[in-house]
Amino acid sequence: MKKKMDFLGRKPGPATLALHSGIQRTELRENSLALFLTSSYIFTSAEQARAVFADEEAGNIYSRFTNPTVTAFEEKIAALEGGEKAIATASGMAAIATVFLSLLSSGDHLVLSRSVFGSTTNLANTLLSRLGIGVSRVELSDLNAWKDAIRKETKIFFVETPANPTLEMVDIEALAQLAKEHGILLVVDNVFCTPCLQQPLALGAHITVHSATKYLDGQGRVLGGAIVGPQQLLMDKIFPFLRNAGPSLSPFNAWVLSKGLETLSLRMERHCDNAEKVAQALGHHPRLERKVRYPGLPDHPQHHLAKKQMRRFGGILCLELASRPQAHRFIDSLKLATITANLGDTRTLVTHPATTTHGKLTPQDRIQAGITEGLVRLSIGLEDAEDILTDILQALEPTQDMN
Ligand SMILES: Cc1ncc(COP(=O)(O)O)c(C=O)c1O
Repeated sequence: MKKKMDFLGRKPGPATLALHSGIQRTELRENSLALFLTSSYIFTSAEQARAVFADEEAGNIYSRFTNPTVTAFEEKIAALEGGEKAIATASGMAAIATVFLSLLSSGDHLVLSRSVFGSTTNLANTLLSRLGIGVSRVELSDLNAWKDAIRKETKIFFVETPANPTLEMVDIEALAQLAKEHGILLVVDNVFCTPCLQQPLALGAHITVHSATKYLDGQGRVLGGAIVGPQQLLMDKIFPFLRNAGPSLSPFNAWVLSKGLETLSLRMERHCDNAEKVAQALGHHPRLERKVRYPGLPDHPQHHLAKKQMRRFGGILCLELASRPQAHRFIDSLKLATITANLGDTRTLVTHPATTTHGKLTPQDRIQAGITEGLVRLSIGLEDAEDILTDILQALEPTQDMN
């Protein structure tokens, strides 16, 4: 890939990388990416099987370990994130669990942002605690809190930035610096931005993880995940876990995700255009408790940080209504946006985090994560911005029973 692109004399842009990396054509000369729907591979002799198993000869063995269609997706996402290597997983949670279980042992310590996806918090609170891995939870944007949480056993800092659903951020470069000074790995969940809007590895993070289920597919079709980082770390620590524990991505899903990546850059521009238009137009609507939460609004408390580390501001915005009944009423009044726990789809989606994605957290964890009962998350889709806005405005109109 690198050689093919050398004529450009510069690093190819994300649209070119997504289209031209990770394609290994077969002798059949197919144009689009081939789908290798096979669970195993044949050997020409017992001796060849022995040699491939013994790592004396390169080659595919079994699709839990490697599969050409999965490899193509891995090469595309690694190229986009600017990482040496990617390992694909069955879902975003499989990626996160794989990172934790491959890199942490009993007695180690993880520092986790308070503002992460509900299942990530649940995983840390239940499985990691049961395995004797210490977990401290800190305020995402407070660098002093990260510093204070460090122990000699601390192995990983884990963040989502912007966080789901609060859109709070951390200065990745500063946190990576702190992590490096203490020999800690910084892992960034880059779901909300995708590599088109933010490249954590270029800012000093060691690993990025993805729920490919979201924008990378972008069309709400399949589950998938990815871990991107240094070749040696991934091959020495993460690949053996994948091979033995099996949280591997299906080749069919890898094919769908690779086709999704081909249009990622185009879709992200439109998601950002639409979200910016909706956020600006809604501003401080009288029915909202506070101004729309969107990192692209100049009065967002971390707007300067967003401008520093993100290329654009993403497709997610949050509205804050006065109470759970008001939030539910607003959600039920939407006509275009659909109610679902997913995000990053072509269509506009709406979620009430306190009772769905973050519903299994303790009330205290929810409050600490900034998830109020009135908070509504909107994943702005690719429809016409005016239509999305009209839908939101009609759903914000007061109804009889509110008066
Ligand atoms: C930020 C973030 N990380 C990880 C995940 C988990 O991904 P998956 O549902 O693909 O397991 C999600 C799911 O919503 C998410 O929003």
